Amino acid sequence: MAASSQERVAAITGGAGGIGEACVARMRRDGWRVVVLDRNMDLAREVAAGHGAVAHEIDLADAGSIADAARWVEKEIGPCSALAAVAAHLENPHMPQAQDFTEWEAILRVNLTGTFRTLTAFGAGMLERGNGSIVTVGSITAFNSSPLQAYGPTKAAIINMTRNFAVAWGRQGVRVNCVCPGPTRTPAVEASYARGERNPDTMIRQTALGRLVKPEQVANAIGFLLSDDAGAITGIELPVDAGTLATQLWGLYGGVPGPAQS
Ligand SMILES: NC(=O)c1ccc[n+]([C@@H]2O[C@H](COP(=O)([O-])OP(=O)(O)OC[C@H]3O[C@@H](n4cnc5c(N)ncnc54)[C@H](O)[C@@H]3O)[C@@H](O)[C@H]2O)c1
Repeated sequence: MAASSQERVAAITGGAGGIGEACVARMRRDGWRVVVLDRNMDLAREVAAGHGAVAHEIDLADAGSIADAARWVEKEIGPCSALAAVAAHLENPHMPQAQDFTEWEAILRVNLTGTFRTLTAFGAGMLERGNGSIVTVGSITAFNSSPLQAYGPTKAAIINMTRNFAVAWGRQGVRVNCVCPGPTRTPAVEASYARGERNPDTMIRQTALGRLVKPEQVANAIGFLLSDDAGAITGIELPVDAGTLATQLWGLYGGVPGPAQS
């Protein structure tokens, strides 16, 4: 089960999800030994089997589970030198006064505290060895107002956290960057379109490219930042959003010109 000397080990939290699975595929193609970490073990096993990876349970709401998963990866698979911290508790749009505080607590626990603990647990071995690369996953909701009342602030905090870790660990050989997806056509988001909670056409109209993001396009950015090709890059946040952030002021002047794809 341990990695061969040629294969470096990458851990992907949320590896059973849409963007997570695309990261598993990309990292396998790049020759990494990949561990799919998720709380949904049925899906994690399926994804792992489909991509020649291994699956292991993690629950970001549980500090012990995060520490156990990090220990298991180091002991059973090998020294982990790449981490994609993809797992998150998602949220549907609503007004602030309608916030459910049980959900608020759950989102902060997973996205904020869980991500912080994931970085410290998986980063410990990287610091000891003086070598490693971490990518956190933010969101374009981190940069501006949105009706994702709890999720957006946690994603803004992840950007701040990423910069903190990047500077704290930079001289010990560990790079830390953040990828911020725009609306990405994962199975979970497609299901949300089908339930009428989000409208893909409205979202497409607000992209510069006239189309939404594919999971593999986010994974390509994550794979690049985790690779040695990004050896001089740390402490950045990289939007992968089909130009959604760039279009904002065009709404004041009638919107983005040109046809969009459906
Ligand atoms: N899809 C988008 O449009 C979009 C946009 C911006 C940011 N993002 C971010 O991209 C990342 C991946 O999102 P996705 O769209 O692939 O969603 P997804 O729901 O398909 O994947 C999320 C994964 O995280 C896992 N997870 C949730 N809570 C967990 C916990 N407590 N412990 C362990 N695992 C847990 C889920 O089981 C799931 O496999 C998230 O960080 C999300 O916030 C997505």
